Amino acid sequence: MAKKTQNENFNIVATTLFGLEEVLAEELRELDMEFVKVGNRVVTCSGNLRQLYEANLWCRTAIRILKPIRQFKALDEKSLYEQVQKTNWAEIMDLGMTFAIDAVVSHSTFEHSLYVSQLTKDAIVDQFRAKTGERPSVDRVRPDIRLNLHMHDNLVTLSLDSSGDSLHRRGYRLQTNVAPLNEVLAAGIIGLSGWDKKSPLVDPMCGSGTFLIEAALMAQNMAPGLFRRDPYGFEKWKDYNEQIFKMVWDVAEAKGKTTAQAQIIGYDLDADYVEAARNNIENAGLENIIEVQKADFFETNAPQAPGVVVMNPPYNERIQSDDIYELYKKIGDTLKNNYQGYDAFVFTGNLDAAKNVGLRTSRRVPLFNGSIECRLLKYELYRGSRKGGGEAE
Ligand SMILES: C[S@@+](CC[C@H](N)C(=O)[O-])C[C@H]1O[C@@H](n2cnc3c(N)ncnc32)[C@H](O)[C@@H]1O
Repeated sequence: MAKKTQNENFNIVATTLFGLEEVLAEELRELDMEFVKVGNRVVTCSGNLRQLYEANLWCRTAIRILKPIRQFKALDEKSLYEQVQKTNWAEIMDLGMTFAIDAVVSHSTFEHSLYVSQLTKDAIVDQFRAKTGERPSVDRVRPDIRLNLHMHDNLVTLSLDSSGDSLHRRGYRLQTNVAPLNEVLAAGIIGLSGWDKKSPLVDPMCGSGTFLIEAALMAQNMAPGLFRRDPYGFEKWKDYNEQIFKMVWDVAEAKGKTTAQAQIIGYDLDADYVEAARNNIENAGLENIIEVQKADFFETNAPQAPGVVVMNPPYNERIQSDDIYELYKKIGDTLKNNYQGYDAFVFTGNLDAAKNVGLRTSRRVPLFNGSIECRLLKYELYRGSRKGGGEAE
């Protein structure tokens, strides 16, 4: 019976950032998930308990891995309350456990997600109180059980959050600069670049080193979840299978390659950022894989082509640059003159300044960095005299 439960498939919902859905879908397919389907900032699929654990450990572009437990229509407060009470919550958590509800509400007669999560919480604690006279407590920060409520057109999906803390918090980054990239976004951008994980990869404005570390983890086949310090959400579930999780963890540890699979190089103008990047790299155990130097990008040359440049220059939003237009012009000139034979990916939230790159984009992918609308701009830097021609727009 226990074996049957382990092997049983169930629906899994992996959440991600806008624009990274296809990259995440590919990651889930690599884990042999079935019925992989892309949605808006989510990918749905079907898998078993082992695959759920694997998704948490291996998915580089997932924010959370959810397990839906109920779906129902809730047209008003009463029906929401009654529907939530139809679940036997004692099968999901014990009285002594803490819980939290993350609610997202859209296109519904309910307007406020906070209100919806409070109603849901009331329905859960009232059920416990009616049965035992006591109620479990809410802990917004470190709950034992994290629930996810998604309401769209008044259709509610209630899920258990198997990740707990967001998966972008890998655990390797101690040092941050003023504008570090979200790790999931960095991994997604490298995924979108199509880098082969063998040819050189350069981030010439590396800041705290997020692109470099995510790229190295990919090349070395290291699971990003192995750095995690806090337990995963599923470790508090009633069906938690420690043996399976240990196996998944051990397999992940064994899969990581120790010898460098690709040349991965970072530069930054600022000595403090170089230091921060080195500390983070060391934290991830990648000091023999990634090389970081204090250098001005405009004075660097590419290692042997072909290769990939990926960069996140200042946008003038959080980082001020004296002349942002001149900066982007020099980026274009340096790429054209010193990085021939490379594919360059410039991730920016300043589309106006990006026009000054002065090279023709071969791809433009809309993405967000937090609330800032951005583009990932691809430039193919041909060898020889081929001119860039057009502007970035
Ligand atoms: C937006 S931050 C990059 C953040 C980085 N992606 C991260 O995750 O931490 C831009 C970086 O470009 C660096 N920078 C600006 N001009 C540069 C130049 N000419 N050469 C090298 N680095 C430069 C800044 O020092 C800053 O660290």
